[in-house]
Amino acid sequence: MSSQILRSASRAARTLLSSSRTSSSVGQWRTVAAATATVARGSARSLSSFCYKADLKSTSMGWFYGALAVPAGAYMLQDQQLQAAELERTFIAIKPDGVQRGLISEIISRFEKKGFKLVAIKIMIPSKDFAQKHYHDLKERPFFNGLCDFLSSGPVVAMVWEGEGVIKYGRKLIGATDPQKSEPGTIRGDLAVGVGRNIIHGSDGSETAKDEIALWFTPWELVSYTSNAEKWIYGIN
Ligand code: RTP
Ligand code: MG
Repeated sequence: MSSQILRSASRAARTLLSSSRTSSSVGQWRTVAAATATVARGSARSLSSFCYKADLKSTSMGWFYGALAVPAGAYMLQDQQLQAAELERTFIAIKPDGVQRGLISEIISRFEKKGFKLVAIKIMIPSKDFAQKHYHDLKERPFFNGLCDFLSSGPVVAMVWEGEGVIKYGRKLIGATDPQKSEPGTIRGDLAVGVGRNIIHGSDGSETAKDEIALWFTPWELVSYTSNAEKWIYGIN
């Protein structure tokens, strides 16, 4: 358990170290500060939960571990060079047709292999009302009612993926709305045939991504973490 605390503290330290090396603009600092705050909150939670489970919260041992964890983590990570990337998040859903056709792992693996990071996932059957909220910008379209009936007709795998450029590139991985027009190599191009059964949804811009993530997930369902692969995925030469 103490190694878990060290790992959490290490993540916070790593973010701090990488930010001090690479951030120059105010915008970058703001991004890094937010990331650090999230990580720091996570570390505090892990530490607090450890102390609680070990019944150490009010003992001198609890404070002893608390005092040791962060400096030890910071020391261990001084040789790691993780470049700070401008990470963004997008909402991706595998629609009922994708779930029923057994395409969950295929779709997830395409995002994962690209180098994007899964930060939230769940399976649920949305209500019709929920589907209408999700597709509210299409409410004037003739297919709106059928589309919402379909989205609420069975299990949907809801996900949040994180990475540099993930909103725009996620849409490239997905392909054109009509699978007949999707390029081979894209998810819809390879795995779907008709526009009404195009198996996957992806946010189409940063505002939509923010709104859709907030609609489908509560903040505590989103997991902030550093994957071991990140230093091999991002880097400035
Ligand atoms: P999505 O929101 O599901 O990711 O799809 P999209 O951005 O590529 O396309 P959008 O215009 O937002 O349409 C949402 C979904 O509505 C269905 N649709 N049916 N002519 C039709 O019958 C028609 N057009 C669109 C598709 O399932 C599309 O994904
Ligand atoms: Mg759309």
